[in-house]
Amino acid sequence: MLKKILLATDGSETSMRAAKNAVSIGNKAGATVTAVYVVDVHRLAQLPGYAAMPGIKDNLVELMFKEGSEALEEIEDMARDAGVAYERVVAEGDPGEELLKLCRDPGFDLIVLGTIGKSGLKRFLLGSVAEKVVRHSHVPVLVVPAKDEQE
Ligand SMILES: Nc1ncnc2c1ncn2[C@@H]1O[C@H](COP(=O)(O)OP(=O)(O)OP(=O)(O)O)[C@@H](O)[C@H]1O
Ligand SMILES: [Mg+2]
Repeated sequence: MLKKILLATDGSETSMRAAKNAVSIGNKAGATVTAVYVVDVHRLAQLPGYAAMPGIKDNLVELMFKEGSEALEEIEDMARDAGVAYERVVAEGDPGEELLKLCRDPGFDLIVLGTIGKSGLKRFLLGSVAEKVVRHSHVPVLVVPAKDEQE
């Protein structure tokens, strides 16, 4: 039986579509939704001039924490409106790795995420985080598509 759903959000529109699906499944199954945002500190290090400008890291990390807490709050509202039990997690590191680590926590029965995220290149079938999770997850993965151009 479905008891615990892990929902991954990077604050993107597609991840919010994933959140709606996770909450709707949580409602039907009587399962808890745990939403997670991973602060992607590794990606920052690839920015030009990043190492040379002290202070920029703190600002960008702060912005990411803000993006995360806004997304997690929005999902909390969705869960509350649907009467679904809700938990939130903020992690730091490589998003794919962190999601897989959390999934190893016995108890999660399903992970829900979007096909794409913030980079949002629709010509790619799956973003790199989604691809990594789909390839390596030991629990079923529900991958929610991006908004259709016609929608
Ligand atoms: N930092 C993150 N924290 C939590 N979930 C994430 C994070 N990044 C991505 N995800 C999840 O993975 C889904 C796919 O995003 P992904 O990052 O793979 O695509 P992208 O941003 O379009 O491409 P890429 O990051 O490879 O350039 C998102 O909709 C979200 O559900
Ligand atoms: Mg991404």
